[in-house]
Amino acid sequence: MDKFRIGGGRALRGTVMVSGAKNAALPCLAAALLTSDEVEIAGTPRVRDIVTMEKVLAALGESCTHAGSVTRIVSGHTGTFHAPYELVRTMRASVLVLGPLLARRGRARVALPGGCAIGARPVDLHMLALEQLGATLRVEHGDIVAEAPRGLHGADITFSKVTVTGTENVLMAAVLARGRSVLRRCAREPEVTDLAELLLAMGARIDGVGTDTLEVEGVDALRGARHTVIPDRIEAGTYAIAGALCGDPVTVAGCRPDHLGALLETLRAAGVEPEVTASSITVRRPARLRSVSVTTTEHPGFATDLQAQTVALMTQAEGVAEITEAIFESRFQHALELMRLGARIEVSGRTARVTGPTPLTGATVMASDLRASAALVLAGLVAEGETVVDRIYHLDRGYEAMEGKLNALGASIERFNPGPFV
Ligand code: EPZ
Repeated sequence: MDKFRIGGGRALRGTVMVSGAKNAALPCLAAALLTSDEVEIAGTPRVRDIVTMEKVLAALGESCTHAGSVTRIVSGHTGTFHAPYELVRTMRASVLVLGPLLARRGRARVALPGGCAIGARPVDLHMLALEQLGATLRVEHGDIVAEAPRGLHGADITFSKVTVTGTENVLMAAVLARGRSVLRRCAREPEVTDLAELLLAMGARIDGVGTDTLEVEGVDALRGARHTVIPDRIEAGTYAIAGALCGDPVTVAGCRPDHLGALLETLRAAGVEPEVTASSITVRRPARLRSVSVTTTEHPGFATDLQAQTVALMTQAEGVAEITEAIFESRFQHALELMRLGARIEVSGRTARVTGPTPLTGATVMASDLRASAALVLAGLVAEGETVVDRIYHLDRGYEAMEGKLNALGASIERFNPGPFV
């Protein structure tokens, strides 16, 4: 299993380019199931989750090829409709094929995602909404079995809770449903808007893009399209936080600062003075970092996917920061690992109380999920001595070439693999 060995205490200087957004590319790849034409998605990061989605599409008869960051999906014109557990269990977002399969092939068999390190994460809201569009769904032998032999029909749907992939799944089903659908209380994450832009380019009829109410007039068929996904706001935010911790300075380029409003506000409150242009953020470590309390919420609020990295930042800030996780119920596994490096954190329910600043000292720590891994790398950058981050495969799911990008800024991160028995 790959690990990172990080030599801490170095200043970071220079420019880091942000990759395309994993969480935008995933639904856009799934949307290729909605047409028999070719779909080209540019800006797909070469990360493990994208490779998994390409495998899911291949299992469904699509042919995926990629050249650099461009993925081309060509329909295999098969009636295959089964996304197997071997793939879904490695990536919950595989469930994004459910809506498109139902809409275009009239049925889907998609393994029900199981437990997850950050919370229960059920998909009941995806299933309920698809039922409202006229599908019948049941769970059989661990799979969601969904059928709509006479096609889907429009419906007025209100999500009882804001769900990102739920909104995406149901939107992809509604664009080919007969008649008009109104989807209310939709997620407004930029990744949902990005998917809607692709669907519009494919000929879908959607009003209200970017708002929490999407009105969809179903069409008979969609055509192929070429689309470039938005830059990864979570990767950009992670590197901006690296800049706040040890930037001398760091410029995060090729990003969309307008997608990062809540983080920029938090950085300003912490005494960091980010310089923002239309497509870049430059961050320097301030003489004194101040503690800031944040609560994660749906977009445009503070992103849960930046919570772990913010906890790492607050270990170096003066005062007490209360970081409350309102989206997922158990997303604080990084706190215990950060404490191994010397952080002072008390977790009580959904709040982590971080008291800083504490000098961190290198140790071996274990990554538990994608963003927790990023938090441990950030802490390793400021810790004195050597930090080893184990289970880097979590990081490889969503960060493209993280060690290469950080090393180019002056970090010292070595990937190593001690072999199968260590
Ligand atoms: C998306 O997950 C992202 N994944 C996650 O990114 C992100 O953390 C999350 O949205 C929140 O922003 C992708 O886009 C592929 P949700 P998703 O449905 O869609 C509850 C990362 O690190 N809920 O918006 O699965 C759920 O349990 C990842 O890149 C239900 O109860 O999240 C949670 O409490 C991790 N029933 C809340 O809603 C449902 O049917 C929001 O989850 C669906 C969700």
